[in-house]
Amino acid sequence: MSDWIERGTKVIMNTYKQFPIVLEKGNGVYLWDSEGKKYLDFVAGIAVNALGYNDSDYIQEITTQLKKMQHCSNLYWMIPSIELGEILIQNSCFDKIFYCNSGAEAVEAAIKLSKKYGKKVHGNNCSKIITMKRSFHGRTMATITATGQTKYQKGFDPLMPGFSYVEFNNYNELKEAVNEDTCAIIIEPIQGEGGIHPAEKSFLKEVRALCDEKDIVLVFDEVQCGIGRTGELFAYQLFDVKPDVVSLAKGLAGGIPIGAMLAVQSKADAFQPGDHASTFGGNHLACTAGKVVLNKLLNGGILENVRKQGKYLKEKLINLKEKYAMIKEVRGYGLMLGLELNIPVKDIIEICMEQGLLILGAGENVIRFVPPLIINKNEIDEGVTILDGVLQQFKNNKGL
Ligand SMILES: Cc1ncc(COP(=O)(O)O)c(C=O)c1O
Repeated sequence: MSDWIERGTKVIMNTYKQFPIVLEKGNGVYLWDSEGKKYLDFVAGIAVNALGYNDSDYIQEITTQLKKMQHCSNLYWMIPSIELGEILIQNSCFDKIFYCNSGAEAVEAAIKLSKKYGKKVHGNNCSKIITMKRSFHGRTMATITATGQTKYQKGFDPLMPGFSYVEFNNYNELKEAVNEDTCAIIIEPIQGEGGIHPAEKSFLKEVRALCDEKDIVLVFDEVQCGIGRTGELFAYQLFDVKPDVVSLAKGLAGGIPIGAMLAVQSKADAFQPGDHASTFGGNHLACTAGKVVLNKLLNGGILENVRKQGKYLKEKLINLKEKYAMIKEVRGYGLMLGLELNIPVKDIIEICMEQGLLILGAGENVIRFVPPLIINKNEIDEGVTILDGVLQQFKNNKGL
């Protein structure tokens, strides 16, 4: 075992079940551990490192910004945050942006904005929020409460009041749950941690109409599925349903911590000075990094690459499904794909790692594929060949 792991075990709090490798450097879609072993990375820091590693423009722009200044209080205007905001707003249905530092904070901001809006427009009791079962929205107290999975809530009660949960893609159940105190409905257009489950377009359209009728804030949590993952800049564009509010993080700055909540004007107006804040929100480095990511997605052919390679990877996974009875289903869009097996995937992921492929689970039985958005066909072939070999090994050894 690496000396680093021994040292890490002594000082890092025990909240993560970690793989026994220490990742030290990367290039493109490849990573190397502290012992020099090379890995093909289909994890990308959990859908974060959109441009992979060692992108020269990314490094140059961030370094140039660092030489000017790294941070100032958002009590002053900051150029990179304005420029990144302009790009996001010009390419979306939203009018205003609030910056923070993570996905949970972006969802938290959406919760606060929705409550302020509900109270302002419908009266003080209008503060209840409906979310989906099997959803994931983060690890703060409000966002574990918003998360529709009890395993993340266990041991942390009392939770926040005012949240209820309905079956994903079940419009009738949602309609029943809505009342005059409902200020917001929060939905991941593609549930990520819950196992790569896309929403049905018809469901999202019905929810949009309901929110219009009752003046409820429709929030899409695109922390995982946004910023090019699906082949569209925003996942809502793929489903052709516009939310009022969106939460973003992960890929937005390609690996520098950032979060953002965007809203249409009528909802954004509910926030007044002093209502919400974040010391690092709109940070120069994070927003400069975000500008590079957005420019490359929109003008550098990366969105097209996601569509093309996503289709290719999905076809390859469907071929695997035809070959192995243990594979139940292939789901997802773009480079956010899931392979549901009828067995736990933990051992498969570990053996892939030993053979030089990093992949992720999403729940017990789903293998998740969220590689850097710059991945090419040869790299997909290489990854799928390793996975195919490991599945074959499983089939032979366990008779699956
Ligand atoms: C949909 C969604 N929302 C929120 C979060 C929380 O993001 P963070 O870990 O940056 O707080 C995640 C993280 O996986 C996510 O997938």
